[in-house]
Amino acid sequence: MAIQSVGVIGAGQMGNGIAHVFALAGFDVLMNDISQDALDKAVSLIDRNLERQVSREKITAQVKSDAMARISTTLKLSDLGRTDLVIEAATERETVKQAIFEDLVPHLKPETILTSNTSSISITRLASRTDRPEKFMGFHFMNPVPVMQLVELIRGIATDEATYKALHAVVEKLGKTSATAEDFPAFIVNRILMPMINEAVYTLYEGVGSVSSIDSAMKLGTNHPMGPLELADFIGLDTCLAIMNVLHDGLADTKYRPCPLLTKYVEAGWLGRKTGRGFYDYRGDTPVPTR
Ligand code: CAA
Repeated sequence: MAIQSVGVIGAGQMGNGIAHVFALAGFDVLMNDISQDALDKAVSLIDRNLERQVSREKITAQVKSDAMARISTTLKLSDLGRTDLVIEAATERETVKQAIFEDLVPHLKPETILTSNTSSISITRLASRTDRPEKFMGFHFMNPVPVMQLVELIRGIATDEATYKALHAVVEKLGKTSATAEDFPAFIVNRILMPMINEAVYTLYEGVGSVSSIDSAMKLGTNHPMGPLELADFIGLDTCLAIMNVLHDGLADTKYRPCPLLTKYVEAGWLGRKTGRGFYDYRGDTPVPTR
């Protein structure tokens, strides 16, 4: 089946980046969220990010306006039923995602492919709650979506070959590269990245280094574009903690236990850039380490 129209559920950080790259690649995009304000903010952020690409001469003004014209929004989840491919990018909580799929499924065309941008939740389990586990896959984009080259493709136990091939082709059309992962907790990227971030928090917790020394050590010592604590703030500390919990519960190994300091930051509501404070305080002109 040729995929032309794409429904994106959730207009947050990941949803707006996903809508951006699909519209740019020529797909018709229908974005859904429970908040009109979130949809309006996402559209203006996409406009700004596309403008940034125009100003850096990555795309022309005409390409930008064509992409913007392909994006529409709706508050009604059922409107996504007419699309060829649905990408769920809502909050990283299993009960929320399951409720969304339950509401959506009765409205779907039989051939629609269903996907989740989950960074760690079992694809097999999410798929089993829908009417189409064979047409269900994990479709995991990296943040910031317009910049990052990788998309992880995760097959559930029941996913069929046609669905896998269709998504593989979509990734190529986006101009990105896919890596295929089996459906085990946190897949590939987060299975490796999150324990590194968690270890950086332990390094801070145990007083081995300060926020600045840990981040400069990893940036300058291993050529990472961001230090692990800066990256944790960028991803969101609540997301990092949720993924560590999925690893800890799913693999039942104490090596994945979340650092108590990470839990403390999340309990304080210091979730990183999105709340103005995490391992750095972003409320002034330049980020200031909080430890
Ligand atoms: N939309 C469009 N373009 C964007 C953008 C956006 N949202 N954000 C950045 N860019 C572009 C900039 O325009 C710039 O383009 P040019 O190269 O043409 O100049 C380029 O990206 C670099 O941006 P900046 O100059 O503003 O900033 P930078 O050089 O400091 O890079 C960064 C910013 C790309 C975020 C870089 O720091 C980086 O790669 N960080 C690591 C990101 C990372 O690891 N992401 C994965 C997180 S894990 C994940 O997502 C999985 C999960 O489930 C948690």
